[in-house]
Amino acid sequence: MNLHIFQNQQELNEAGAGIITSLVQMQPKAVLGLATGGTPVGIYEELVKAYEKGRVSFKNVTSFNLDEYVGLPVDHPESYHAYMQQHLFAHIDLPAASAHLPNGNAPDLEAECARFNELLEEAKQIDLQILGLGHNGHIGFNEPDDSLISGTHLVELKEETREANARFFNSIEEVPTHALTMGVGTILKAKTILLIVRGADKAEIVHRALTGPITTEVPATLLQTHPHLVVLLDAEAGRLF
Ligand code: GLP
Repeated sequence: MNLHIFQNQQELNEAGAGIITSLVQMQPKAVLGLATGGTPVGIYEELVKAYEKGRVSFKNVTSFNLDEYVGLPVDHPESYHAYMQQHLFAHIDLPAASAHLPNGNAPDLEAECARFNELLEEAKQIDLQILGLGHNGHIGFNEPDDSLISGTHLVELKEETREANARFFNSIEEVPTHALTMGVGTILKAKTILLIVRGADKAEIVHRALTGPITTEVPATLLQTHPHLVVLLDAEAGRLF
């Protein structure tokens, strides 16, 4: 594991964006695994700046997002489709046809998971998977459980996850109860994983995830088994290291 702790957010954002930019410069057809949530916003801002300065092009990149809520219209401001447009896709040259997200409004969600898995198979391997961390140790929307699913699947969100994400909605009632998520098997198959964690409220869970016993009750502990794990923490999240 390659762990870095940053004293300020800007340094963390630049480091995260720098890792992604360098990969795409060296490998213009890179396959990127993208995450949503509050954590990667500053990194996407830096990526957009790098693109605007002509340092990197995404025109030959393929991307896969980790997850999407079930039942939110794609143009709902809190759908992950809308999030990706707002923070990244509308500002760079990644072709729309190369940017894949699970469709949480598909009439047949099982078929949608199979479609997404097939696309992932065709892409062979994600070169760099960006990950945030849930307060309960979830990655993507792989919630703590006594077993975990390898491929893309439908998941019922834990109450604590809905509460954590309620800050983006008017009330908790508006937070969807289900989501589609890439499975841990797909996440762990990525060549490199870039885990980004910020804030004092995640200090304990990130410490447990990276140093505690490996258990499906804390899905992020499985990251300890990955041969190329890069971790970027701010000073608050990294206070127990
Ligand atoms: C969300 C997302 C995850 C994200 C995590 C942390 O529910 N499904 O992909 O990494 O929880 O979110 P945040 O970065 O907003 O703390």
